[in-house]
Amino acid sequence: MKLGGPLPEHGHDASAVIKLLDEQGSPGTVGTTSGRFFGFVVGGALPATVAAHWLADAWDQNACLYELSPVAAQCEEIVLAWLLDLLRLPNGCGGAFVTGAQMANFTALAAARHATLLDANWNVEEDGLFSAPPITVVVGEEVHVTVLKALAMLGLGRNRIVTIPTDSQGRMRADALPRLSGPAIICVQVGNVNTGACDPVGEICDAAHQQRAWVHVDGAFGLWAATIPTRCHLTEGVGAADSWATDAHKWLNVPQDSGIAIVRDMRHLRGAMAITSSYLQPGERREPMQYGPESSRRARAVEIWAALRNLGRQGVADLIERTCQHAKRFADRLRSAGFEILNDVVLNQVLVSFGESDVTKRVIEAIQSDGTCWCGGTVWKGCTAMRISVSSWATTETDVDRSLDAIIRIASREAT
Ligand SMILES: Cc1ncc(COP(=O)(O)O)c(C=O)c1O
Repeated sequence: MKLGGPLPEHGHDASAVIKLLDEQGSPGTVGTTSGRFFGFVVGGALPATVAAHWLADAWDQNACLYELSPVAAQCEEIVLAWLLDLLRLPNGCGGAFVTGAQMANFTALAAARHATLLDANWNVEEDGLFSAPPITVVVGEEVHVTVLKALAMLGLGRNRIVTIPTDSQGRMRADALPRLSGPAIICVQVGNVNTGACDPVGEICDAAHQQRAWVHVDGAFGLWAATIPTRCHLTEGVGAADSWATDAHKWLNVPQDSGIAIVRDMRHLRGAMAITSSYLQPGERREPMQYGPESSRRARAVEIWAALRNLGRQGVADLIERTCQHAKRFADRLRSAGFEILNDVVLNQVLVSFGESDVTKRVIEAIQSDGTCWCGGTVWKGCTAMRISVSSWATTETDVDRSLDAIIRIASREAT
């Protein structure tokens, strides 16, 4: 890639700069917008959202204050209300538009820290954590690593967390919840990154709220199950939680980077995030920076607005249903071809084993170098597996069948 060398002494013409970037940079990209990219949990960016992104870039809005970008602040308000409706969350929640589920977990957990300590007469924003009443944090053993990072960044530590067991699909066992007293936060997951399984969130909320604990839901992609009748039972009771983290750049298919933190009682989000100074006096209207960790930033809600306006409620439901059906198609044909599916395919995630660990690893490598489709690897309950995550609007049944032909051809060859 010939993008390096010494810092140019003199500038180059803008067209020449972009031409070089295209020539040298484009070959260094990964085709995540393809309908046959099934790695990680990566959406494909709907065309309307890419165009909205370009428009917003041309506007170059600083979305921190209403005064600096009325359109950014208004899109945030509109989109937040639409998302609460779509994801079956309570009206009137507060929300922040952040880079992804990592920062959404951080933001929502900062609100949880604020609220649980306030309940114990402690102002953590003013007085910090030294000498604060301890907060009990409970997670399932399948907690996503970004929740642990968020807890670490918030000074809640990884080693003092209470970890409770999960079932064969990675769901937290509600019957294993400990008795809680004092400030407590329970981190629940809807959409396990390997299996797609969802914790019994309603049951956990019931138990938690009897003990005044805060329930935070990491629903990076799984929260979107609430949008379709065939899967909404997986997130039943999710609206009873206190905060939620989700991504728009995964299953909603908007460009990177786009996540949303949602908090039932907006006062706690503001309590954790709001700042003022002589030149930053919040007005009556939405001031985005009062809800999130960032100040100056781009207008992320614009692309989410474009996705929701472009798809509508029905289009979102079609997208979620279609990708779940594609995942089932993968699982059914791979099983019929004699390969082991390791998870109950409840959402858009499939885990397949091609035999011994080294065989599965070899198959994954061969699939990646064949180039028909892209899938990554993982380890599930000690077993090496290939992950197929169907998250893109662009994936068609033909893409699935073409990918399946390649996977089965390669696996049959490598497994013998
Ligand atoms: C359950 C869960 N939480 C959090 C994340 C982190 O999301 P992001 O990379 O958008 O920050 C992921 C990513 O796959 C996830 O699956």
